[in-house]
Amino acid sequence: MKVLWYAQLCALVAFFSITTNTIAESANEWQSGNQIYKNICGHCHEAGVGPKLSGRDLPADYFKTMARNGRAGMPAFRPTELSDKDLDKISAYLVSKGVTGK
Ligand code: HEC
Repeated sequence: MKVLWYAQLCALVAFFSITTNTIAESANEWQSGNQIYKNICGHCHEAGVGPKLSGRDLPADYFKTMARNGRAGMPAFRPTELSDKDLDKISAYLVSKGVTGK
């Protein structure tokens, strides 16, 4: 049990160093919601760490609130990491995926 816990901790630490680099290198350079989702949210939400977000008809404000404030295992993103504009892009992207269900 202890070994498993340690392995999870290592995975988490490794993940966060990757994410921090991604964010630091591309701050204010996000082109589209799709790109942000793939590079940040998808690390968890396409990997079974967080719940699936697409195809669920979730409202735009919910994505923005979650990304800004976090909850439990969901990290909060500061405006220096993802600006309000970035959150608009990503929520529009996720809403469009919700509508088509893809
Ligand atoms: C480090 C992993 C991680 C990253 C990165 C991440 N999330 Fe999450 N997210 C989670 C986890 C874990 C939960 C479940 C939280 C809970 O149990 O309350 C979650 C929950 C959510 C929820 C609520 C889903 C529901 O079913 O109620 C939304 C919305 C969400 N995340 C959006 C985002 C967006 C948008 C991004 C990118 C800006 C993002 N997340 C990045 C881990 C992550």
